[in-house]
Amino acid sequence: MSKRIKIGLIGCGMISGSHVNGYLAHPQHAEIVAVCDTVDANAQRRAAEVLSGAEARANSAIADAEKADTAEARDRLKENAARWAEYKDNGVEIFSDYNEMLKKCELDAVSLATPPFAHEAPTVAAANAGKHVFCEKPMARTATEARNMRDACDKAGVKLAYQSGGTCLDPRSYAIREYVTSGKIGDVHYGRLTSYRVRGRPNVDMFGFGKWFLNSMYSGGGTLYDTAVYLINRSIYLLGSPQPATISGIAYRGMPPEYTGEEINDVEEFASVFVRFTNGMSFTYENGWSCNMAGQPQGIFIFGSKGSFSNDKLFLEKGEWEIDDQGNRRRYRENLVETPLELPDMHFPDKFRDFIDACSSDAQPVSNGDIGLKVTEIMSGALLSAKLKREISVEELYEIEALRTEPTPGWPIP
Ligand SMILES: NC(=O)c1ccc[n+]([C@@H]2O[C@H](COP(=O)([O-])OP(=O)(O)OC[C@H]3O[C@@H](n4cnc5c(N)ncnc54)[C@H](O)[C@@H]3O)[C@@H](O)[C@H]2O)c1
Repeated sequence: MSKRIKIGLIGCGMISGSHVNGYLAHPQHAEIVAVCDTVDANAQRRAAEVLSGAEARANSAIADAEKADTAEARDRLKENAARWAEYKDNGVEIFSDYNEMLKKCELDAVSLATPPFAHEAPTVAAANAGKHVFCEKPMARTATEARNMRDACDKAGVKLAYQSGGTCLDPRSYAIREYVTSGKIGDVHYGRLTSYRVRGRPNVDMFGFGKWFLNSMYSGGGTLYDTAVYLINRSIYLLGSPQPATISGIAYRGMPPEYTGEEINDVEEFASVFVRFTNGMSFTYENGWSCNMAGQPQGIFIFGSKGSFSNDKLFLEKGEWEIDDQGNRRRYRENLVETPLELPDMHFPDKFRDFIDACSSDAQPVSNGDIGLKVTEIMSGALLSAKLKREISVEELYEIEALRTEPTPGWPIP
């Protein structure tokens, strides 16, 4: 069994509830010992939720143990109940400053559920204190911030996971990556990813979200940073983690109904991005959290010289190509047949367990800082390219990010 990891939660807003549930689900492997938020009421609320959640789980595990079919199941439920019951005695410490928490609390890891503008500094502070980091998506606002986070964790020898919605932790994603990287679909040269919401802009169409979502200085960007981020992450994983070389993007904001709030709204609602990778592959990402597009296939499409993936369906060449009287073979589409995916016979952990396991082993989290950095290069590069109206290289992205003065992160869209 892996070591029981002591977690400090930083940021106790909307999404932090999923972190609480995520760690409470693994009582033998993780324990939330502290929470931190600059807003005391938020920290108090989450701390109380950790305690009440643990108590409720302990009670139902005890009741379930009475009804368990096997001795093994009964013992496991009782062990879990004992771990959850410990929260009542141990309590959860509450902090308003994460540096204090890192100093005063005995932690193995921090779980960051702060907005993007507050990802880099706590990650670097936690790494310097020797703590592993689980960071909410998007990893950072700029490639430079993401690189600082990755480098700080590498230097300290701690793990950096970032939340990708668990988009890689399933048998299909694992199998597709195997097909792509082993050459089974030939030379993978191109891919396309499309994802559209009709109306799904936080604080414009959907309410109850942090005000920072629409302000590029706080969020880094709009739909790319909020929704495409998961899918770009999955594409990088499926392609075997290629390194972006050049990026070209366009971005748009202006869909009705208009934003009528008082906060700054300078982020993109739609973006199209073309990326060339150093290994010769290229990829198009088309994403919008507000667009009038229906009837268009959405998902991920991967083009190989011997086959393809259309979403999660595999198509492979089968048999000899037939040639007609005129010597044509172009119409014989039936030679490209849907082929069942060979799925791995293995268990896939959820994203929190994947992180917990990485903290107590040599393994890297599946969604790790290296992948997060590439994703951030694509997002920040796309918006800079849109601004400059031309393709940029990743080297140029870092050079231009370095020229900026504070407070600037994010590339506002006019
Ligand atoms: N809301 C969602 O549906 C959702 C879903 C998935 C991921 N996320 C991601 O999770 C992160 C947080 O989003 P949210 O919706 O929970 O935001 P939120 O605004 O609801 O909560 C953020 C919390 O962080 C606190 N905070 C800010 N700076 C801090 C600091 N320096 N130290 C300690 N606490 C600080 C705030 O007081 C607030 O309580 C973002 O990166 C977001 O993209 C959000």
